[in-house]
Amino acid sequence: MTLNIGVLGLGSVFCGPYAGLITRLEQAGRVKLVAGYDPDPDKRAAATDRFGIDTSFGRAQDLIDRDDLDIVLVLTSMNEHGSLARAALEAGRHVLVEKPMATSVPEATALLEAAAVAPGQLVCAPHVALSPTYREMHKRVREGEIGELHLARARYGWSGPWWGRWFYEQGGGALFDLGVYNLTSLCGFFGSVQRVTAMVGVAVPKREAEGEQVTVRADDNAHIVLDFGNSRFASVATGFTMQKYRSPAVELYGSAGTMQMLGDDWAPDGFEQWTNARGSWEMVGETDPQWPWTDGLRHLVDCVESGTRTVTRPEHAFHALEVMLAAQRSAKEGRVVEIHSTFPDFDYGAPAATAGDGRGKHDPRSS
Ligand SMILES: NC(=O)c1ccc[n+]([C@@H]2O[C@H](COP(=O)([O-])OP(=O)(O)OC[C@H]3O[C@@H](n4cnc5c(N)ncnc54)[C@H](O)[C@@H]3O)[C@@H](O)[C@H]2O)c1
Repeated sequence: MTLNIGVLGLGSVFCGPYAGLITRLEQAGRVKLVAGYDPDPDKRAAATDRFGIDTSFGRAQDLIDRDDLDIVLVLTSMNEHGSLARAALEAGRHVLVEKPMATSVPEATALLEAAAVAPGQLVCAPHVALSPTYREMHKRVREGEIGELHLARARYGWSGPWWGRWFYEQGGGALFDLGVYNLTSLCGFFGSVQRVTAMVGVAVPKREAEGEQVTVRADDNAHIVLDFGNSRFASVATGFTMQKYRSPAVELYGSAGTMQMLGDDWAPDGFEQWTNARGSWEMVGETDPQWPWTDGLRHLVDCVESGTRTVTRPEHAFHALEVMLAAQRSAKEGRVVEIHSTFPDFDYGAPAATAGDGRGKHDPRSS
């Protein structure tokens, strides 16, 4: 079975990282890139030239309605994610949506509801939980190698995009673009957040994007404290405010040891583990140094081919969004904000999807 892919958003991540993975999957005969849409006519023309795909659509819905599509990738600017992903699910497609899954709780709720009854599967970025390093750390944490998790610290940042002025406008921002990785990682280890307090702001009010000076209206700097209950805490430092670092991406402190993920959680470079019982540091290298952060697409293709459920669940992405919105509110109102959503733990041996459970079947077009 070769799965036909249509792409919404033919910008930076499509042209580089996703196109690279699609090419590798095409070479293996597993997928075929057939269509793309972007409101920018130059990007449509460039995609047709480079990939020979159909970009002759007047709007995103026209691509979604193309009835030979199996998978739709939503790689647009963030404000469009929720509505486009929902429309594609409702049209019976399998969907991968870049992060965040939506930019508001009502949109994300509507997307979750659509996913619950749709024949297709929904995979939400970031795909951090799929990396070999993360999986090994998660397994060891669940097996109790560092005891009960009590405290953690995570960071991810850089100096910020020079393309896509939307990153600095309402619905953009460093929290949605970057902090989402650390939040997804930490929640995967600890479980659901119960309360959030945060400082979130604009540290650099003018930036250059698309060759022009833009006024920054979305957060570019954040420090978040998460309460997982029972006095278990974690913090996230994120922003378009970091030039370089050499610190671990994620530090986990347990009652019997410590784990430190090296690199970034979207591009891990193995981890170090201290256990009191051993009394020494163990270095565990990344087993797949070429692991791509776009791996959610490979995972979705695997799941569609095998009829299994995705390891990462949409509820996890919903939870991360609720936490990010709560962090923004906490900073604005100067108070701790309660979190209501929960999500299931990763199931790395995910069971088969069954027809009608809303978690996907082999071919949504045949249902
Ligand atoms: N750039 C990165 O390094 C990176 C890494 C990981 C994830 N992401 C995520 O990928 C997404 C895209 O980021 P990017 O850097 O490629 O941005 P980009 O600005 O380069 O591309 C986004 C594209 O979406 C298009 N678009 C807007 N509305 C659309 C619609 N209704 N239908 C179809 N296309 C539409 C825009 O015209 C633009 O070409 C974002 O969610 C971002 O957070 C980006």
